[in-house]
Amino acid sequence: MNPKKPSQQNTRILAVETSCDETAAAILVDGRKILSNVVATQIDLHAKFGGVFPEMASRQHILTIYPVVEEALNQAHLSLEELDAIAVTRGPGLAGSLVVGMNMAKALSLGSGLPLIGINHLEGHLYSAWIQSEMDEPQNPPEFPIIALIVSGGHSTLMVMKDHLQYEFLGSTLDDAAGEAFDKVARLLNLPYPGGPSVQKAAERGNPAAFNFPRSWLEGSWDFSFSGLKTAVLREVRTLEGKGIVIPVEDMAASFQTAVVDVLTRKAFLAAEHFNAKHIVVAGGVSANRALRNAFTEQNRFIIHIPPLKYCTDNAAMIAAAGYQRFIHGFRDDLSMDVFPNWPLV
Ligand SMILES: Nc1ncnc2c1ncn2[C@@H]1O[C@H](COP(=O)(O)OP(=O)(O)OP(=O)(O)O)[C@@H](O)[C@H]1O
Ligand SMILES: [Mg+2]
Repeated sequence: MNPKKPSQQNTRILAVETSCDETAAAILVDGRKILSNVVATQIDLHAKFGGVFPEMASRQHILTIYPVVEEALNQAHLSLEELDAIAVTRGPGLAGSLVVGMNMAKALSLGSGLPLIGINHLEGHLYSAWIQSEMDEPQNPPEFPIIALIVSGGHSTLMVMKDHLQYEFLGSTLDDAAGEAFDKVARLLNLPYPGGPSVQKAAERGNPAAFNFPRSWLEGSWDFSFSGLKTAVLREVRTLEGKGIVIPVEDMAASFQTAVVDVLTRKAFLAAEHFNAKHIVVAGGVSANRALRNAFTEQNRFIIHIPPLKYCTDNAAMIAAAGYQRFIHGFRDDLSMDVFPNWPLV
């Protein structure tokens, strides 16, 4: 068994994340300070298919998981005996990919006697906002109540957090997730994979007012809908193609992006007003989007917490950050834990 103190100070957690196409391991102190953060991306492997190929993803995780965990320990100059717990993404994600990380985490726990904690990937995305960036200025963590917006490849969810690990569901997308809409629109506009960053890059040279794409406000509800917007882009592309007009890719990307940003920011600000929340956390892959970050931060009514770019998309540092909260609140799993590919956060 791990001989270390049960204190909540200097808690070192090793986390493993393999829910999709990144093989990742990280070690954090007290859920905030990074000792190591290793991510082996499979982007090049999947690029030729225009999306993640699940079977290839799990095979690649098998090849990279061991060196990635070893590298995380080496970079932190720590051995397993000097850690306090192992956290691992249990879901949601691709079943075959999750299993690889889960088995690695179980093996580490079994071999070392360290406690094992299963983490919801979305909880990880949220807790990325607590990670202390390497910048010299120490930032204050978010303060409750918090409006939490997760915008990623598979989710667009708005919640209120009144305390750590307490989530009150407000709304989510009724159809496509925000990241999914970026990926689909990138394909429509023939922009390279991965879609989100390509749309952002094209949008930076485009006119956001060139096309008046629809915003699904869904008044009176905290839900989102992005499929109508995506269909509007598709229709415009087909109309222009039918007339033999060259597609103004940059203007379309900019107009689409601004429609997504408008809806996400307005709903989050309305929710913050409604729940008297001063702090808003924005997390998940789409929170890497520069226009979205600017729209959130160019106001002074609310305090915005958006993780540094490298913690927006999938990584294990965020799993260690959430793992720390679970650890100090007494959560433990055992070796009978299985992956949970459709695990809802709320
Ligand atoms: N700069 C950007 N602008 C817009 N979207 C982006 C940007 N960078 C990444 N994304 C989008 O973020 C998504 C990937 O985020 P993330 O890795 O969190 O998703 P995921 O893990 O696949 O899904 P989930 O977290 O819901 O299970 C993709 O849809 C991608 O297009
Ligand atoms: Mg993710």
